[in-house]
Formats: sequence, structure tokens, C-alpha cells
Amino acid sequence: MSDIILGIETSCDDTAIALVNSNGEVLSSVVSSQVDIHSEYGGIYPEHAARAHIHTILPTIDLAFKKAGVKPQNIEAIGVTRGPGLISSLLVGLNTAVGLGMGWNKKVIGINHLRGHLRSADLEQQRVKYPATILLVSGGHTFLAYMKDINDISILGTTRDDSVGETYDKVGRMLGLAYPGGPAVDRLAKEGNPNIAFPRPLLNSKFEFSFSGLKSAVSRFLAANPDALQADVAASFVQAVMDVLIKKSHNALKNYRSKSFVIVGGVAASPQLRQQAEKLCNKMKVELCLPPLKWSTDNAAMIALATWDYIKLNIHKEPIAQLQLPIFEF
Ligand code: KG4
Ligand code: ZN
Repeated sequence: MSDIILGIETSCDDTAIALVNSNGEVLSSVVSSQVDIHSEYGGIYPEHAARAHIHTILPTIDLAFKKAGVKPQNIEAIGVTRGPGLISSLLVGLNTAVGLGMGWNKKVIGINHLRGHLRSADLEQQRVKYPATILLVSGGHTFLAYMKDINDISILGTTRDDSVGETYDKVGRMLGLAYPGGPAVDRLAKEGNPNIAFPRPLLNSKFEFSFSGLKSAVSRFLAANPDALQADVAASFVQAVMDVLIKKSHNALKNYRSKSFVIVGGVAASPQLRQQAEKLCNKMKVELCLPPLKWSTDNAAMIALATWDYIKLNIHKEPIAQLQLPIFEF
């Protein structure tokens, strides 16, 4: 038995391919970004995303094999994101995986994208000590989870509407910043004062999130105060988001005994979040686990690592037939 998995991830706007072995060692990881295609729309245009995946997927797979110095016959299986995500984008990855699996006579396993994110912190080296509390903050999702071990995952709370990343992107657009707005909003926030009292939605709910009201509050404020200092708006918005994320993470750490507190997803790049999470972990005497950023944003290495979990635990998910499963079925 070989110990290399080909991971394929096309759930959103990146065509990502990786080869990973059973220790989580990444032999190659290639991400073909579509930011240039979508930036003119200020968000992802699903039809363009799927068409771009069709163009890039085979050359990207080829490149990943070349970089790793591995041949298709040397792999054990193919792991491919089966959801959640944009259906037209997912289908490009799934059909490619199934076709290659038939041609190469390799098993194809459908992987939950969110399980990939949850496991991303263990790529390249084992970082997470279980039981762990995990905050996932990406462009597509926001939730707190508790993992007793790699196969015992409980979702503590999720967002009722927008994700954190999406909210950053929309506020970025309101402020006239380039897509994706997260990094630009963060940079602007550093120059401002958090002196505007934006709401902290659902602050009294233990683990549930909501961000659409905050987004509307920023929009209303900008309409009523066109001369407001944009940096102050950004700083006040970021502070409101941080207060909510840290309060609920604190609730989770108080209620669930954890050795690690892990933050994954693109918003984990936020320096404000990193700083405030560190303070929280010092207070709660929990180890803060922040994986390198390249594993926080969408990538296929995390999908390949999750595929290893399925193989070791003897779970087999049919890639296509399982497309309609609830998002938190791992
Ligand atoms: O995990 P990710 O790459 O893609 C999804 O799975 O959705 O996350 C992308 C999100 C975008 O919304 C982007 O604005 C946000 O992560 N992001 C940030 C920062 N860098 C990226 N948000 C806040 N601060 C940042 N520095
Ligand atoms: Zn993602």
C-alpha cells in the first residue's frame, strides 16, 4: 500500500491540488487562484468559477505530481471535496476525480470541506492536542466546534446568516476597498479608533453567531455619515467582530475542557484576532494553535489529510452520491 493521497478541492474559487502522505507531510500543494477573475464583481461569480476550474484542473493536477516527483500509479487514493460549496464548482472536481479514479484504478473518497478545515492545523506537523475547541472563520463558514479526537466532532454553534469573512468582504466593498476585503479592512482598521458603537449581534447567545445585522449597521452608518473617517469605521467594525468571536470562544473554553484552541479559515490571518485569541488563551491556560496561513485558506492538502482519516477509520463516502448530505455530516 502506498501512503500518498491526491487531494482535489474545487468548492469555491480556488482550484487546489495536493499530494500528502499518511503523516500529513505535504509533498506538493498547488493553488490556482481566481481572485483576478472575480475581483471586478466584488465577490465570486459562480458560473465563471466553474468554467475556470474546468480550464485549470488538469494542468494543476499535472503540476502537483511534477512538483512532488510522484506518478499517479504511486498514489493510494483520491480524496475530493464533496461539499459544502458552489455546486457547479464542486462538480468539476468530483467528475475529474471520478474519471481519474476509473482511469487509474484508484479509490475515490468524497470529503466534507469543513472536516478538511478542521484538520488543516495538523498539516506538516501534529499541532493540535485533543480535546480541542476550534473556531472556523472563513469566507464561506463560521462556527465553533469541539473535537474530542479526530473523529468525534460536535458543532457548538454556527452563524445564522453571514460568515465572518463574507461580512469583512461586504464591509470592504462599502468602504471602496478591493476584493477580498478582509486584509484591506484590517489594514485600514489599524489606522483608526474604534469609537463608533456598532452592535455585537447575539452576544448573549452562548455559541450562535449572526453578522448580517452588523453589516447593515455599518451600511446605515455610512449612509447617514458620509464624512465619517473610514479608518474609524473599519476599526469599530473589527472591534465589534472581535468582541463577538472572543466572547463565544471564551464560552466554549469555559464549558468544554480543551488542551488546544485552534483557529482555522482565512480570517485567522487577522492580526487583531490572533492578538486577542492569545490573550484569551493565556487567561484560560489553553494552548493557542494557529496553523501557517497557507493551510488556513482553502487548499487541497487539508482535503488529502482528511482522506487519510477516512481510510484509517474505514469510512467510505461515495463522492457524487453524497453531494446532497447535510453540511455537518462529516
Ligand atoms: O478560508 P478562506 O480562504 O476561504 C473560504 O473557505 O471561504 O477565507 C477567505 C476569507 C475572505 O472572506 C477574506 O476576506 C478573509 O478570509 N480574510 C481575512 C483576512 N485575510 C483573509 N479576514 C480578516 N482579516 C484578514 N487579514
Ligand atoms: Zn473553505
